Amino acid sequence: MDIVERINKLKRTRNAVILAHNYQSPEVQDIADFVGDSLGLSIQAAGTDAKVIVFCGVRFMAETAKILSPAKTVLIPDRDAGCPMADMITAEDVKRLKRDHPKAKVLCYVNTTADVKAECDLSCTSANALAMVNGALKNDDEVIFVPDMHLADYVAGQTGREFIIWKGYCPSHVKILPENIQKLKAEYKDAIVLAHPECPRAVRELADKVLSTEAMCTYAAGSHNKVFIIASEIGILHKLKKENPDKDFIPASERAICPNMKKITLEKVLFSLEEMTFEVKIEQEAMFKARQCLRRMLEYRA
Ligand code: 13P
Ligand code: SF4
Repeated sequence: MDIVERINKLKRTRNAVILAHNYQSPEVQDIADFVGDSLGLSIQAAGTDAKVIVFCGVRFMAETAKILSPAKTVLIPDRDAGCPMADMITAEDVKRLKRDHPKAKVLCYVNTTADVKAECDLSCTSANALAMVNGALKNDDEVIFVPDMHLADYVAGQTGREFIIWKGYCPSHVKILPENIQKLKAEYKDAIVLAHPECPRAVRELADKVLSTEAMCTYAAGSHNKVFIIASEIGILHKLKKENPDKDFIPASERAICPNMKKITLEKVLFSLEEMTFEVKIEQEAMFKARQCLRRMLEYRA
């Protein structure tokens, strides 16, 4: 039996579902039951009937699945798959911000640890940040937005709001430079540029659309254009190409790789199902508070 057959057999025995983020390597995406962005994965995790969730992504995503589905066993095939951006802010940092701005609401990007979420009022993903600020936070004058300064800058620009921001960033997305886009635009004159909001402003300003990873897939599928320059982590190209074989997708920069996403391999998914490792565990109080923070995120789906 090859590895894919072994994974599928064990998946049935364990009553498990495999969820994979759009940045996972192609072979991991191809064995998953669902591949999507942070919001889509959270919705799947909250609604699954399976007993076990094998989460192929980074730790904050697996933690989010556990918080939203506390009765399930949530496994992450590599416990070292972290998100450097999520690790740029601690719960203590948030407490300090709240002391400095006692009237402010705290909105966190879903790319945060459970302990940080436990200190925040609301969380959002790149897919629904605009909708949440315009909806759930429309009456709040003071908003602290952590930890991604680029996403916060994007949402501020689109909504005309001002935020108290934290200077976190994604080390993979900041590797995409404006000159990368300029050069590719000169080469592919008819190309549409799609950028993730984690890209710095100078890159986003060169984009035709700023979208979450899943929204990039939806946009590309519905567009008449044939060539797209993709300013995001290069793992997303697999899904884009698979779903649109008649279209071309050019990575804005080959350097935009998230090494943590690539820590998950087929072998580790197999070991994870064989040994039921590594189980995501969150302390009860943090879990309860983080769930309050995450609850409304699922209501804003666009
Ligand atoms: P998406 O929610 O758009 O998939 O982004 C998650 C992420 O970590 C991007 O770096
Ligand atoms: Fe974190 Fe960036 Fe990797 Fe997304 S791509 S998981 S933000 S390091």
